[in-house]
Amino acid sequence: MSSYDVIVIGAGPGGYVCAIRCAQLGMKVACVEGRETLGGTCLNVGCIPSKAMLHATHLLHEAEHNFGTMGLKGKAPSVDWKQMLAYKNDTIAQNTGGIEFLFKKNKVDWIKGWATIPQAGKVKVGDDVHEAKHIVVATGSEAAILPGVEVDEKTVVTSTGALELGKIPKTLVVIGAGVIGLELGSVYARLGADVTVVEYLDGITPGMDAEIARQFQKMLTKQGLKFILGAAVQGVAVKSSKATVTYKLRKDDSEHALKADTVLVATGRKPFTEGLGLDALGVDVTDRGQVKTDRKYATNVAGIYAIGDTITGPMLAHKAEDEGMAVAEVIAGQHGHVNYGVIPGVIYTHPEVANVGETEETLKEQGRAYKVGKFPFMGNARAKANFAGEGFVKILADKETDRILGAHIIGPMAGDLIHEICVAMEFGAAAEDLARTCHAHPTYSEAVREAALACGDGAIHA
Ligand code: NAI
Repeated sequence: MSSYDVIVIGAGPGGYVCAIRCAQLGMKVACVEGRETLGGTCLNVGCIPSKAMLHATHLLHEAEHNFGTMGLKGKAPSVDWKQMLAYKNDTIAQNTGGIEFLFKKNKVDWIKGWATIPQAGKVKVGDDVHEAKHIVVATGSEAAILPGVEVDEKTVVTSTGALELGKIPKTLVVIGAGVIGLELGSVYARLGADVTVVEYLDGITPGMDAEIARQFQKMLTKQGLKFILGAAVQGVAVKSSKATVTYKLRKDDSEHALKADTVLVATGRKPFTEGLGLDALGVDVTDRGQVKTDRKYATNVAGIYAIGDTITGPMLAHKAEDEGMAVAEVIAGQHGHVNYGVIPGVIYTHPEVANVGETEETLKEQGRAYKVGKFPFMGNARAKANFAGEGFVKILADKETDRILGAHIIGPMAGDLIHEICVAMEFGAAAEDLARTCHAHPTYSEAVREAALACGDGAIHA
């Protein structure tokens, strides 16, 4: 039996970051992980592999659609599916291996296996019981499956199976127009699949600024994705490896069916805490299965904390990472804190979509007076040169004080551009602060500055 200051359960972005930070703060720390590699859903079957597939298929799209215009002649590349998956797997291996290296470098012990917590202060893995003054639950989430749908990860898949299909489907039905559905739907549309997205609500990407969501749907439709909105999926039947998806249109309750080679279920995720023994310990959990914590990530049982997808808030790797660092600082007696008002969200389609802070809808709900500064990428020289002139930057600022309240970008590198605005928001900046900051020319970042200028006397290039 070994004894630690902290044992972190789960080595996803929340857990591994927490373990490393604990070690950096001078604590003796172990991280329990049952998967064969570190990194959790994000590195193994989520963020990272999907980005590899998005990158490869985006380049294919560029070769098919834009190379000729730039004078790059020749046949567009053909797809070697096995090789594309091998590239994706190699990307995973490099990243998960990187975390193993970081654990060694920081002297974090990796306890291999699945953990249970028999009592506060103890973590059991296999037959071994380890002692820990503090236990951090960072066990992540799993796909939430609809009733009437059985996932076999071959014909009916979650994001995990969608990253490992035996072949490229001719027809793909995606259930749910959220982040997973649209990213992976894009991948297969670019690979030539006929992709239909069936969504319960009347718009895509719930919670996103409505103007951006509408523009996003238009762009995806141009790329070949089809949308059936206001449609509640009733079930999926599989016969001889072919699927039939039945759905009801909410407007008239009429029932319809769609056939597909593959069905991707992307209807959200739920906390994964099964097998930990939280129930027996008396750890409070919400009716949605989220572990209840206070602002310092402590559960109601002394010495047990929880972070990331297991607690409330957006299920995002970077939110979990921030909480991982914050809880490590709390345990070390410092003042760990996460600013939930400035957590960016990014969808890695092409173009990318990124947001931070308030939307027009949430500001209207709050009755807060705001102004909008908008700038289209069509007015950005670099974007025009790179076939990236679609989309815009929109900054929302307080009408009186000019303080930035939120920002929404649809366009090239939106996921990187958003961070300039995040930093500005962390410093309580006004739109004018961004507008008066010199931005290099020609860069996409100039579009952010122009949107900030549009909050004041006006953008120059629009
Ligand atoms: P989501 O919550 O983003 O979207 C699920 C969609 O399914 C919603 O639009 C919902 O209305 C729809 N839906 C639910 N029931 C339905 C039904 N019966 N019929 C039709 N539509 C139905 O969930 P998603 O895309 O599965 O992602 C899960 C989590 O993973 C999210 O929290 C997301 O933020 C995170 N994620 C983040 C990524 C990123 O940051 N780039 C990438 C992938 C996942």
